[in-house]
Amino acid sequence: MKVFLVAGARPNFMKIAPIWEEMKRYPDEIEPLIIHTGQHYDDVMSKVFFEDLSLPEPDIYLGVGSGSHAVQTAKIMIEFEKVLLEEQPDLIMVVGDVNSTLACSLVASKLLVPVAHVEAGLRSFDRTMPEEINRLVTDSLSNYLFTTCEDANENLNREGIPDEKIFFVGNTMVDTLLRFRDKYDSTSILSQMKVKKEGYALLTLHRPSNVDDERNFTSILDALEEIQARIKIIFPAHPRTRKQIKNLELEEKFADMQNLILVEPLGYLDFMSLLANSKFVLTDSGGIQEETTVLGIPCLTLRENTERPITVKEGTNVIVGVDKEKIVEESRNILNGNSKTGKTPKFWDGKAAQRIVKILRRKL
Ligand code: UD1
Repeated sequence: MKVFLVAGARPNFMKIAPIWEEMKRYPDEIEPLIIHTGQHYDDVMSKVFFEDLSLPEPDIYLGVGSGSHAVQTAKIMIEFEKVLLEEQPDLIMVVGDVNSTLACSLVASKLLVPVAHVEAGLRSFDRTMPEEINRLVTDSLSNYLFTTCEDANENLNREGIPDEKIFFVGNTMVDTLLRFRDKYDSTSILSQMKVKKEGYALLTLHRPSNVDDERNFTSILDALEEIQARIKIIFPAHPRTRKQIKNLELEEKFADMQNLILVEPLGYLDFMSLLANSKFVLTDSGGIQEETTVLGIPCLTLRENTERPITVKEGTNVIVGVDKEKIVEESRNILNGNSKTGKTPKFWDGKAAQRIVKILRRKL
């Protein structure tokens, strides 16, 4: 059985890594090939993750690069179709909710190649978010829907997807988080950044709704200005965010915040080390809401909603939106010792990839 493992953007790599490794345990049955679309291409957004996660070079690299949603999705489709026709895999696996996920599942479905979607069924119910469109379309096309939590199963059922296609297996990103724990515990990034355990907050920010919208970006910055007066903030900035800081002429505002340390995007191990040792995290990412929950680190999500409600219900996540007062108030709560505690959701136990591969071996 030849399986394409599709990845394209930074949050995909840690989700395919444990699946690739698990599949490699059955060389007589499964041949996994890593297809990298090239949606993310900078070394700091891509190559470093392959190195950190001990993944081999991709078997096939499509090299599509950046573009508008339509351009990027179309380019991936054109290149992926050629490869699919030539290689004739028995199954393609896509992960998450990025444009590569959508583009490849669309192409495979039309060529009648079965699609497995890992992290299926997450819904923010906010269709202004491009990822929500990607999730809806990918799930409606998929033959195997692997979910990270039971509320995702309910979402899929509500959309008419039958139980036979849905498998609650847990979270492959957590497989990676647990497997690499020793490695990121021993990086030197804290001393490089001149910080101590719990002596800083970690910030990530890259959603178009936050950084492309001047009002929202400014509101968040106003909050950060107050927070950094009390605790150092480390901010590895996404390329999109860097660009927007320049476009919106916010450089000076950043320069004035002496306790906010703007750095380049970090690799997996350095980033996880900073996350695991932080006092708290401010983020608009999806995956980081889950990683903080597993590590018991308080997380303030700078969005109005989440497709990962389990991190709020069971974990350490608090949705704060982009209102300055709310962000400052929740940060103050944490700094005053009143942070939210939580538990690790069911099946976020390091065995999700094993469950996925077991199901596929039985079914195929
Ligand atoms: C994508 C995903 C988003 C995910 C994020 C993680 C979609 C719709 N969005 O958003 O869900 O949370 O990845 O990072 O798929 N750029 C570079 N170098 C790179 C990649 C991007 O400079 O290696 C710059 C380019 O200017 C590009 C911009 O970042 O136009 C945005 O990249 P893109 O892949 O379109 O979306 P992300 O914002 O990264």
